[in-house]
Amino acid sequence: MKLSWLSVALLGAGAANALDVISVKGNKFFDSKGKQFFMKGVAYQLTPADPLVDAEQCSRDATLMKTLGANTIRVYHVDPKADHSKCMATFADAGIYTLIDLDTFDTYILPNDPWWNQTQHDRYAEVMDAFIDFNNVLGFFIGNEIIAMANQSQVAPFIKSATRDMKAYRDKKGYRKVPIGYSAADIAELRPMLQDYLTCGGREADNVDFFALNSYEWCDKTTYAVSGYANLQKTAENFPVPIFFSETGCNVPGPRLFDDQEAIFGPEMVNDWSGSIVYEWIEEANHYGLISYGPKVEPTVTGKNIEGGFTRAGTPQPVTPDFENLRSKWATITPKGVASSDYTPTDLSTRACPTSTKDGWLINGNVALPTVGETFQGTFTPTPTANPSDTGSAASPSSTKNPAPPNKEIAGMSIGLVGVMLIFTLWL
Ligand SMILES: *[C@@H]1O[C@H](CO)[C@@H](O)[C@H](O)[C@H]1NC(C)=O
Ligand SMILES: *[C@@H]1O[C@H](CO)[C@@H](O)[C@H](O)[C@H]1NC(C)=O
Repeated sequence: MKLSWLSVALLGAGAANALDVISVKGNKFFDSKGKQFFMKGVAYQLTPADPLVDAEQCSRDATLMKTLGANTIRVYHVDPKADHSKCMATFADAGIYTLIDLDTFDTYILPNDPWWNQTQHDRYAEVMDAFIDFNNVLGFFIGNEIIAMANQSQVAPFIKSATRDMKAYRDKKGYRKVPIGYSAADIAELRPMLQDYLTCGGREADNVDFFALNSYEWCDKTTYAVSGYANLQKTAENFPVPIFFSETGCNVPGPRLFDDQEAIFGPEMVNDWSGSIVYEWIEEANHYGLISYGPKVEPTVTGKNIEGGFTRAGTPQPVTPDFENLRSKWATITPKGVASSDYTPTDLSTRACPTSTKDGWLINGNVALPTVGETFQGTFTPTPTANPSDTGSAASPSSTKNPAPPNKEIAGMSIGLVGVMLIFTLWL
């Protein structure tokens, strides 16, 4: 029957757009029907290269992610010039949203020698241009762990400048208001100053649309109170924008039980947090993988799709028992949240811009943000238009608990990234 072929084709074509667009209201995510959206996510970066270009690989992975119960992936590096349409459609068909980092290896903001210039601006904009039309883009990151050590908070105003300029670019182009936020390392001395700073000052146009934390505080078996999550919750209460875990899933001692998912979606946290991204999809030397594409080999072995001792493409096989532990955990967790129509975000609390602390928060109050092209001069001038209520508040770290961040591999944060960049530099 002719019609059935046509409708199948139409279904296929329309499917990429079939996923509801997610948007922000208050400190929560909602789909277009007004249902609150909670992230059950996975970090997805197989090599330093863009993982959203190989349609067959995306399809194999998306199928198993659906089995896992994931509804979001986080991708750290993409190539804006590549064609992402097939992978994005495949993930949309599997009910999976994407969080995309706007920065790439040669554009990210440097913590010790910060600047934000037109070249970076234009390269970030290219990534936005490449992804903005996909309905299943949930958000963009302005950076991942740009601040990787307690003494690097001087770069925070540059993070805010980049956010301001990319939000302005998005709005000037008339694009969908895809939220733009930051993914922070979990550094006790800078908590909660960084999250407060990125949302303070009273100018919504300068502030992140969401704040996300890479946190490995919860190591099974533990509890809400002992893990450190109770402290994270304290500073997230009534936060002015959505807050979620952009990496989580401590793997010591193992196996991973993912009990933190019960806390994140449980009564203490579910009103303030929008879920989490579990680190990570592929098994690498750091042993955070939920799947592997083949047995580990010697790091010196080379071959098709083999890098750093691991096969990085093929048919994903669940890592036992971690994959099943997460699958069964997520299967029992179905947070209802609040309906958009029943939700009036009146009790949100925007904190004042924090004053500097001797422990490492180096930004004193609501400083003037760097303009495009500005390089760090060693100080920040106070903003001339400071709102008296935003001139600073004495904040103190909410917790001293801060296990060393895991040693990241090819995917993920700055430490891994610096290593990869070194390798690239040596090759050149
Ligand atoms: C931005 O900074 C980089 C690194 O210093 C430089 O290569 C580039 O030319 C700068 N762009 C502009 C527009 O000045
Ligand atoms: C920041 O701390 C690291 C490690 O403790 C140290 O190596 C680095 O020199 C410090 N940087 C500054 C600017 O003080």
